[in-house]
Amino acid sequence: MLSKRINNALNKQIEMEAFASAYYLAMASWCDQKGFEGSAEFFYNQSEEERMHMVKIFRFVNEAEGRAVSPGIEQPRQEFSKFSELFEIALEQERKVTKSIYDIMQIARDENDFATQNLLQWFVDEQLEEEKQMTTILDKLRLIGEEGVGLYMLDNELREKSTVNSGEVN
Ligand code: FEO
Repeated sequence: MLSKRINNALNKQIEMEAFASAYYLAMASWCDQKGFEGSAEFFYNQSEEERMHMVKIFRFVNEAEGRAVSPGIEQPRQEFSKFSELFEIALEQERKVTKSIYDIMQIARDENDFATQNLLQWFVDEQLEEEKQMTTILDKLRLIGEEGVGLYMLDNELREKSTVNSGEVN
């Protein structure tokens, strides 16, 4: 049985994951408009992963005799100034999610809620990977700049990444 405090915190996390999913969709659309097809696939894939995260928490709350609330979603930004800005925002967003997961983990520890800690440990590992993925892309962008063949190659690399990742979502 979840405490009210944990239940509320997990519902807030559900909202965060839903917002992340919507934000990545906006990024996918921007990439599609600008002809970055590989990157669009990457962000579509990210968006699906975030939805999967949301549902994972949602189901857990109900299984643990809490009450999961279907989230309302604020509309994310639709316009971006340049390619690298997408990944800067994505990294910032992932860092916020990580902090939130850590905060809930602390509450779960204080309450000796082992089931929630177990759920959150999966997210701790996932966040490590997601932040690393975004920083790696930003590092590459700094090396190659924002135009020319390098960017074309990075776009193709991101398409491959999304194909690989889509097999790992569960
Ligand atoms: Fe589910 Fe990337 O936070």
